[in-house]
Amino acid sequence: MPDSSSAARCMDQFNEILTVNEKLNELKDLDAILDRVLSECRRLTRADAGTIYLLDEDKLKFSYVHNDSFLKVGETNKDIYANFSIPINDASIVGYVAGRGEALNIEDVYDMPPDSPVTFNPSFDKKTGYHTSSMLTVPIKTSQGKVSGIIQLINAKNDAGKSIPFSLDSQNMLPLFANTASVAIERAIMTRELILRMMQMAELRDPSETGPHVTRVGTYCAEIYHKYALFKGIQEAERKKTKDLIRVASMLHDVGKVGIADKILKKPAKLDNEEFAQMQFHTVLGAKLFTNSTSELDAMSGRIALGHHEKWSGRGYPGKISGLMGEVKAMGQPLVGEQIPLEARICALADVFDALGSRRSYKPPWPDEKIIGLIREERGQHFDPDVVDAFLDIFEVITAIRDKYTEDLPEDEKPNPQDEAAKQAAEAQDKERGKDHGSE
Ligand code: C2E
Ligand code: SIN
Ligand code: SIN
Ligand code: FE
Ligand code: FE
Repeated sequence: MPDSSSAARCMDQFNEILTVNEKLNELKDLDAILDRVLSECRRLTRADAGTIYLLDEDKLKFSYVHNDSFLKVGETNKDIYANFSIPINDASIVGYVAGRGEALNIEDVYDMPPDSPVTFNPSFDKKTGYHTSSMLTVPIKTSQGKVSGIIQLINAKNDAGKSIPFSLDSQNMLPLFANTASVAIERAIMTRELILRMMQMAELRDPSETGPHVTRVGTYCAEIYHKYALFKGIQEAERKKTKDLIRVASMLHDVGKVGIADKILKKPAKLDNEEFAQMQFHTVLGAKLFTNSTSELDAMSGRIALGHHEKWSGRGYPGKISGLMGEVKAMGQPLVGEQIPLEARICALADVFDALGSRRSYKPPWPDEKIIGLIREERGQHFDPDVVDAFLDIFEVITAIRDKYTEDLPEDEKPNPQDEAAKQAAEAQDKERGKDHGSE
């Protein structure tokens, strides 16, 4: 770092924080914001790795991770969907920092002074072969001074790539940055909650669309898109921006179900053709909700709501609809291939994958092999082949997401292996339905 007076350095840091804050405010979704926060913290302190925990009731919930030594930069990775929490007490370093509300800068976790109030837990290093040495742990505080999370950075690097202690500058700067980021984080948490609450209104009427379903579909879409973008060589800036938007927009794919009559939505059996024809309007009804806005997020939400039941082969619905503002009386000429917006092609796969693995009032959950079988069969038929390839390529990430977002499913919604009879009945029904709707 060039030699500069401490006042000038302070100004530089201040500007840095303002610029980063501006960038954070362009992002909508929590994961995108946490990703950005960690990138910036690591850039500012030259840390090799970092983790963010967010306060969830009385615990610290693991929320995001970066590790340059393990995780390939820019790749999709399942580790960000790890699912664990740490209590706020002195048994762990993050728990200690959250309890005190003060940063802790440790030069070497394997060589701590005997009077140190905390002890380092080496189990991650043992398990992975990683060597943790320097560690800077800071609280994220709200404007009221309440701790809302923790950022933990590991192994500051010098120019030669060697681990060194975190500098005093880093120690002073990082808490300021963390507190600035807390506003963006808070806003993103509220966005997710708002969407879940909106979708729960629909769910009151359609028990199949649970909160976790919506969260899973959103997250699947984000990660499928990420892989697809890597395949296609889409630039990083565009990739990050679209990944952020698709996560939020695809959570709203079925919002139009609020406009479907109860006797259809809640029917505990197969729909007849007339009922299914009514049901198809949920795409158009959803898209109508987004026509009055010019925001990019609303535009994408509208494309997904409208297009998520189109099929690559051109046998989906609702097809070409002109004049969404007016009354739509019938389905249009189906869209084919790339006429279907990319986000909708991705959501189609994520939605079907999740629907098949979930219990519905009219079907039990399917086992994975059967779901994958159908997805392979439908590659180039129902689904965009490149989207299927991206999905299969990151199947590990997909199952990590599914494992993370099942916790609040009621027991009877979880796959139940004893359900053989129901399963067979549904399979028979499924064949029949394929003929009716022509969608198999
Ligand atoms: P959903 O339950 O969220 O299902 C989304 C999509 O997943 C379906 O779109 C379909 O492509 C796929 N899918 C779901 N279950 C099965 C299955 O058992 N077999 C196969 N091969 N695919 C399946 P689709 O068909 O356009 O249906 C749209 C929505 O209409 C469904 O959303 C659901 O809410 C409703 N729906 C469709 N068929 C029935 C039915 O027979 N009974 C009831 N009560 N609702 C139905
Ligand atoms: C994100 O997870 O939201 C961004 C990660 C990336 O696109 O590299
Ligand atoms: C369904 O309508 O739920 C199943 C889709 C199909 O097989 O046609
Ligand atoms: Fe739908
Ligand atoms: Fe759905």
